Amino acid sequence: MPPINVLALCGSLREGSLNSAVAHTAAGLCRPPVSLTVHEGLGGLPFFNPDVERDCPPPEVLDFRARLAAADAVLITSPEYAHGTSGVLKNALEWVVGGGELVDKPVAVVTASPSMTGGDRAQAWLRETLEVMSARVLPAGLRIACAGAKITDGRVTDEATLAELGTLVAELARAGAEAPAGLSRGC
Ligand SMILES: Cc1cc2nc3c(=O)[nH]c(=O)nc-3n(C[C@H](O)[C@H](O)[C@H](O)COP(=O)(O)O)c2cc1C
Repeated sequence: MPPINVLALCGSLREGSLNSAVAHTAAGLCRPPVSLTVHEGLGGLPFFNPDVERDCPPPEVLDFRARLAAADAVLITSPEYAHGTSGVLKNALEWVVGGGELVDKPVAVVTASPSMTGGDRAQAWLRETLEVMSARVLPAGLRIACAGAKITDGRVTDEATLAELGTLVAELARAGAEAPAGLSRGC
């Protein structure tokens, strides 16, 4: 079976981020031929500006786009800030609206929050945005409520959450295998 490459984007820049812990835990759950890489560069992207996009996108943006284009599937983990996603993640998504790197790309969305809601509003917000970008958003997402009690030392430790995350990543990998990178973009 050919390799299946999943790229994870985490919307939090915070050291000790719960959502970063989810992304890294997901990476640890993958077995060949599936591999998951956490992209650490979202904080280095400049603010989206259509003029810059048109004239000469900076190397950080080109690198981000290339990584997304090469991925067979994308896992997004996001905090909820003021009932939406983070500015960091929204900014990153804006850079790939025009290029279409997410078109037809399987994407799974996870939100982790210390609250009882598990970031459900950020989850809904992200799903709508990704759908309007024509990403293939998996119907199943994961909201991790009371996440502070389920994550220890940078890893998900709650057994039920680990099982749910494993199921979601397996489903994402399956979707990625069905629509390998390149083909999904009509290349
Ligand atoms: C400015 C700000 C706004 C927040 N708004 C929400 C919110 O609307 N809903 C929520 O569940 N948590 C909210 N939180 C709490 C975050 O969910 C919490 O800080 C979480 O740990 C952030 O994710 P991270 O651990 O991945 O950095 C907010 C936190 C900050 C700093």
